[in-house]
Amino acid sequence: MRILLTGHKGQLGRTLLPLLTAHEVLGVDLPEHDITDREALLALARDFRPHLILHPAAFTDVDGCARDPALAYRVNGMGTQNVALAAAAVDAEMLYVSTNEVFDGYATDPYHEWAATHPINAYGRSKLAGEWYTQHLLTRFYIVRTAWLYAAGGRNFPHRIIQLADERGSLKVVTDEVANPTYVADLARALVALIATHAYGIYHLTNAGIASRYEFAQEILRLSGRTHIPLTPITLAEFQRASTPPRYAPLANHAAAALGIRLRPWQEALAEFLQEANE
Ligand SMILES: NC(=O)c1ccc[n+]([C@@H]2O[C@H](COP(=O)([O-])OP(=O)(O)OC[C@H]3O[C@@H](n4cnc5c(N)ncnc54)[C@H](OP(=O)(O)O)[C@@H]3O)[C@@H](O)[C@H]2O)c1
Repeated sequence: MRILLTGHKGQLGRTLLPLLTAHEVLGVDLPEHDITDREALLALARDFRPHLILHPAAFTDVDGCARDPALAYRVNGMGTQNVALAAAAVDAEMLYVSTNEVFDGYATDPYHEWAATHPINAYGRSKLAGEWYTQHLLTRFYIVRTAWLYAAGGRNFPHRIIQLADERGSLKVVTDEVANPTYVADLARALVALIATHAYGIYHLTNAGIASRYEFAQEILRLSGRTHIPLTPITLAEFQRASTPPRYAPLANHAAAALGIRLRPWQEALAEFLQEANE
């Protein structure tokens, strides 16, 4: 089939590309294409006539979104509106990649697909707006929420921890932010399985298990041979940043698991990622 893939240069987009070789894929990313340009996107879709639009493109800098909420809404909300309008114009299915930050983090158990959304920061609000447009403009859509993504070469937590460990020789990491570390290679495979089902709806796809940022960092240091680096636990209150992350926002996979789509435990995935990074 013909697939239009937004954000094909990002962590998830470029990991999806080699898994889609059986299909004809057209990538849409900056600077050549901007999803906020509605007319250009509609023209591209009408020309290419995709059967499916995969939409991971987003303004993913959470602190940048907090500093510029209007831009966050323009890209993640209205950009997704444009992608959904393009899908509607050519009668394509759409898969929108969303985030655990649509939840407020005041839960005590992982969030299921049916939990009420209530974002507490600009990034979460803009991504939820993207969900709204997807749900209201289309009938054949998948919304896939995920969390704490990392892929080789991306802007992500494991790379940052290793970089800071080597530069500073010690680290302070928060204990009161909890979610699911997720290896993009695993997520990409799960998305490919999901699009084969045509079982439209809302899904939570992350590696299995939960961790605090502190536990995630501890495992990164252990698996990368850096246990000699002192790691100090701190709280979010002690960590200055522009955005306020949800404190406890792990996702529970109920809907995709019912289709037989499950991801392995995050520790196994992280071990493979770090081993491949060392080869
Ligand atoms: N990363 C995470 O931890 C995480 C967690 C939960 C959910 N998600 C969601 O998962 C999806 C994929 O994340 P990712 O980590 O792969 O993101 P990423 O690496 O930041 O990739 C996003 C891609 O979209 C591009 N993009 C940004 N604005 C655009 C625009 N206006 N038009 C066209 N392309 C644009 C980016 O280009 P530039 O790099 O030039 O800006 C980048 O190539 C996103 O929808 C994100 O919200 C991510």
